Amino acid sequence: MADSDQQVHPMPQSYNPQSKYDQESTATNEAKDLRRQKQKKWALYIIAFVIFQTGIIVLFTFTVMKFRTPKFRMRPSSSFDTFDIQPTTPSFNMRLNAQLGVRNTNFGPFKYGNTTITFYYKGTEVGSATVRKLKVNFRSNKKVNVPVDLVMPATLASNSNLASDLRSGILPLTSQSKLSGKVEIMFIFKKKRTANMNCTMEVNISTKELQNIKCK
Ligand SMILES: *[C@@H]1O[C@H](CO)[C@@H](O)[C@H](O)[C@H]1NC(C)=O
Ligand SMILES: *[C@@H]1O[C@H](CO)[C@@H](O)[C@H](O)[C@H]1NC(C)=O
Ligand SMILES: *[C@@H]1O[C@H](CO)[C@@H](O)[C@H](O)[C@H]1NC(C)=O
Repeated sequence: MADSDQQVHPMPQSYNPQSKYDQESTATNEAKDLRRQKQKKWALYIIAFVIFQTGIIVLFTFTVMKFRTPKFRMRPSSSFDTFDIQPTTPSFNMRLNAQLGVRNTNFGPFKYGNTTITFYYKGTEVGSATVRKLKVNFRSNKKVNVPVDLVMPATLASNSNLASDLRSGILPLTSQSKLSGKVEIMFIFKKKRTANMNCTMEVNISTKELQNIKCK
């Protein structure tokens, strides 16, 4: 009985007269046209998608994927903890509470290692301090507090420029430092970036404040 069932099935498949095939040929042509139109549509879709994707990638490359150098500068809120300036001797001995700012505009964190900030009076070093390593989150600012002793070195004792500067009420200083680190974007793309600080400032002796802080 199972055998007879199997014999019945192949019959409709093998029954395929020529006349029916001719009737169907116009139908298959229409089907072919339809398929071709569909293929064209798909090709257009794919081209549009590729253009869209390219646009997204270009946009990404110039915004999110762009590695920018972070900014590193002195903030005006820096103040003195101790302050001793003798214009007549001349001499100075101060402790500056330097407020530093790191600005990271990348779409990823900036990590830098320990570094040094150095202060100069007309090219002569007058103090330095360690800036500890830190991670600055994506698109954010970080304020860093660094106490630094600014002490007149003996080599400046007979410097006539210093005496006249102090008499005028202004001690001009410069600060230099650089943060060397890595910017990481989307957890995998990393690039080395160095943020340079190069600032000039004036110590106002009567107000015991920093003024005219300018950073390049
Ligand atoms: C960074 O500086 C701090 C404080 O000076 C120190 O404890 C630490 O060991 C330093 N880290 C490196 C990696 O040098
Ligand atoms: C020191 O600061 C005071 C107050 O801002 C200002 O009036 C004065 O001109 C400053 N001195 C100098 C020498 O710039
Ligand atoms: C910082 O300024 C000094 C003096 O103007 C200059 O000689 C030096 O090249 C500058 N450094 C950077 C990194 O801009």
